[in-house]
Order: sequence, then structure tokens, then C-alpha cells
Amino acid sequence: MNKGALALLVHGGTENWSPERWKRRFEEVCSDRRVLQLPGAPFDPAEIHYAAVWKPAAGELAAFPNLRVIFNLGAGVDALMADSSLPKVPLVRVAVGDLTQRMTEYVVLHVLMHHRQEPYLRSSQREKRWAPKFQWPASAISVGIMGLGTLGANAAQALRQLGFRVSGWSRSRKVIDGIDCFHGAAQLEAFLQASDILVCLLPLTRDTRHILNRGLFAKLNYSSPMGAPVLINAGRGGLQNEADILACLDDGTLGAASLDVFANEPLAANSPFWTHPKIVLTPHNAADTDADEISKYVARQIERFEAGGALENVVDPTRGY
Ligand SMILES: NC(=O)c1ccc[n+]([C@@H]2O[C@H](COP(=O)([O-])OP(=O)(O)OC[C@H]3O[C@@H](n4cnc5c(N)ncnc54)[C@H](OP(=O)(O)O)[C@@H]3O)[C@@H](O)[C@H]2O)c1
Repeated sequence: MNKGALALLVHGGTENWSPERWKRRFEEVCSDRRVLQLPGAPFDPAEIHYAAVWKPAAGELAAFPNLRVIFNLGAGVDALMADSSLPKVPLVRVAVGDLTQRMTEYVVLHVLMHHRQEPYLRSSQREKRWAPKFQWPASAISVGIMGLGTLGANAAQALRQLGFRVSGWSRSRKVIDGIDCFHGAAQLEAFLQASDILVCLLPLTRDTRHILNRGLFAKLNYSSPMGAPVLINAGRGGLQNEADILACLDDGTLGAASLDVFANEPLAANSPFWTHPKIVLTPHNAADTDADEISKYVARQIERFEAGGALENVVDPTRGY
């Protein structure tokens, strides 16, 4: 085993991030090199050529002098971008079919939930009220997706297939069959005006922090059969101004919200989000990364890289995603 070692920096947290689970997977797919679960395993920092990480401590990666590639074990790299000591080596993020499919499930589930008035129907059931409301067709609703990258583009197409009118907003110009594509700051307002349900799948960067605020919500469409617009955020908590969301739900600027991500996670027990009647809340599990799939993805990339091939899904540090 004279190949450079892989350091695994996964410090636990939720069930999905159990370090032992990730270590077992990496040992299977990288059987020809040392896999060091850190901290804990004895090691020489110079032997580490690769690091597979989820939210490492600031400065942790700077300790490896021969590091060649960092593999982030999730799609969003905002936590790493905040580390000013991050080594200047390629940073690869996750973009795999399994994760994309999971996020599309989440987006379709929550768009349908609001479109089909599920919160109202569930409360009617609890109260034993047989009280159907007028139900409009999917074609009467425009879903606007902020972020037309790996996740946003896939969700957009699934919603289109269900009959929704779908538009998307990205930084650069896009052409996607059946989707109205807007891009850049100059087209943001036109995009918002066409959106009844706003889905946010943006990365958290210095340009997008707190982009989901009162000023933006007020530009959404108010003439759909749903009445007030709906927000669905599965990007990052830092994208949203949380005080604005609560105030906008209370004064009718927003009709409802599905939130998977929060500024501070796990959400504090006294957060008003838990009990707000217009909020559907999930504990940042819209699209979990699957240890099987992702460890194979990393092993494939290392193999290709060592054979002189190009890495895929490398983050552009100047853009921050
Ligand atoms: N809740 C969860 O469980 C979960 C799971 C996975 C990921 N996520 C989040 O989802 C995010 C998106 O993932 P992804 O794989 O789809 O990322 P991606 O492929 O990098 O796509 C990002 C999209 O956002 C657009 N964008 C970035 N900055 C922008 C700006 N300033 N103005 C307008 N558009 C901008 C990009 O535009 P261009 O196309 O022009 O570059 C791109 O379309 C991740 O960063 C992560 O935070 C959440």
C-alpha cells in the first residue's frame, strides 16, 4: 500500500453522518490505500494525499502538506469556503444521480403539497370536516426555481412533466427545453413576477446570502389561484432572512413555506418555526448523501485523477460554488 492515504474527516452529527459508516464504505472502495478516520488514527500528515470531508473544523485541512484533492461529501461547499486556511488544491463537490433524484422527490413532494392544499385537507381530516375546496390544475401554477444547476434543472423537468408552468433563474444564461430561463440580477424581477411557488436551490455564497427576504417575496405573483405565493427553501439556511419569512407569513406577503434548512441547525427548541401554522418543516433531509454512492464517486475520481484524467465537479473558488 504505497499509494497516498485518504483522510476521512466526518465528525458525526445526524445518523447519516456516522463516521464509522463512512469509514466502512471508503475502506471497501479504496482497498488499495490507507483510509484514516481523523481525528483518532495515528498518522503522518505527509502521507495524506486526499481528504473526504463533511464540515471539517476550520484549519483542519491545512495540516496536510501533500494534499492533492479535497472531496466535499455533499453538494454545498459553503462551510469549506468560509475557511480562510483552506489549502489551494482542487475542491470537488458531490453531483450524483442519487442525490439529485432525492432532491427532486423533495421538491415535487412540497410543490404538490401546497398545490393540492394538503395542509388544509389534513386539518379538515383532524376536525372530521368533509369540506372539499375548489382544486385548480397544475397548469394554473407557475413554479419558479432559483438555481438551475444539477439539482434545480432536474427538479424543473420533473415539475414540467407534471404539467406545471416552470421557470428558472441562474447566474449564466441557460436553455432548457420547456423551461422559461432567466438569468442574472437584471432578470430577477421578471422571474419573480412569474412565480407562484418559489423553490430555492441556490448555493450559499457572498452574492446569495439573505437573498430570500421581504423585498424579494413582495415581487412574487399574487394572482394565482393559491392567492399568496409559497416559498420552498432546500438550499441553505443562510439564503433566508428568517425574521422576514415569519413576518411575511403573518402579514400575508407569503401564503405558506416549506423549509428544510435554517440559519442555525439543529433548530432551537424555542424557534417559532416549529409551531407556525403556515410552515412545513423538515430537518435538513431534503437530499441526504448516500455513503455507498458517494464513496464510489470519490474512488472513481481518485482513480481517474491518478491516471492523468480530469476531476469532475470542481468548485470555482472565485464564484464560491
Ligand atoms: N437541503 C439539502 O438536503 C441539500 C442537499 C444538497 C444540496 N443542497 C443545496 O443545494 C445547492 C445547489 O446544489 P446544485 O448541485 O444544484 O449546485 P450547482 O449545480 O452548483 O447549481 C447552482 C445553481 O445556482 C446558480 N447560482 C449560483 N449563484 C447565483 C447567483 N448569484 N445568481 C443566480 N444564480 C446563481 C448557478 O448558476 P449557473 O448555472 O449560472 O452557474 C446554478 O444554476 C447546494 O449548494 C446546497 O447548498 C441542499
